[in-house]
Amino acid sequence: MQHASPFAAAAMSQTASQSPAQESVYGDLGARLSELIAEQTDFIANISNFAALLFNSLPQLNWVGFYLLHGTDLVLGPFQGKPACSLIANGEGVCGKAALQRAAVLVPDVRAFPGHIMCDEMSRSEMVLPLFKDGRLIGVLDMDSPVLNRFDSSDSECVQRLLQQLMDGTLVPQWRLAPSAAPAT
Ligand code: SME
Repeated sequence: MQHASPFAAAAMSQTASQSPAQESVYGDLGARLSELIAEQTDFIANISNFAALLFNSLPQLNWVGFYLLHGTDLVLGPFQGKPACSLIANGEGVCGKAALQRAAVLVPDVRAFPGHIMCDEMSRSEMVLPLFKDGRLIGVLDMDSPVLNRFDSSDSECVQRLLQQLMDGTLVPQWRLAPSAAPAT
């Protein structure tokens, strides 16, 4: 039987949205991320390590990676997992929806999401978060799980905080911040 969030058992006894298990895991990730980016500000180096950190530290994931804005398209960036679709057109799939809305999109069952783009047939649920630098959207982070309903709002909040920490310590090439890199509104 497939389970919901791997933190669900611990969360059941908690009233707060974040369980102690999540707090501990994401707290550790924040500390490890600080170490990883302490002496490196390069964009590709840091987002590559970020994808690897999440993929190897969080349970029940089969794909973690970035899609980065090129004009109005999203182009595959650093990732961990099986080879994936290299181009996602404006507004397509879960990634395109998150980019257009500039907001997190949580999909408990990818088969029930109209227009979902299947890159790894193992994927059952998905979370896509917008990636900002200085308030400008520059891409998205995509996380896939082989388990239904893997991600909850606490995962979304914690990973968005980690993304903020990542981007605060990372320099982004100027062309990625240019207006032409942003999607049409
Ligand atoms: N499922 C995504 C496509 C990217 S892969 O999952 C790596 C989507 O629907 O946008």
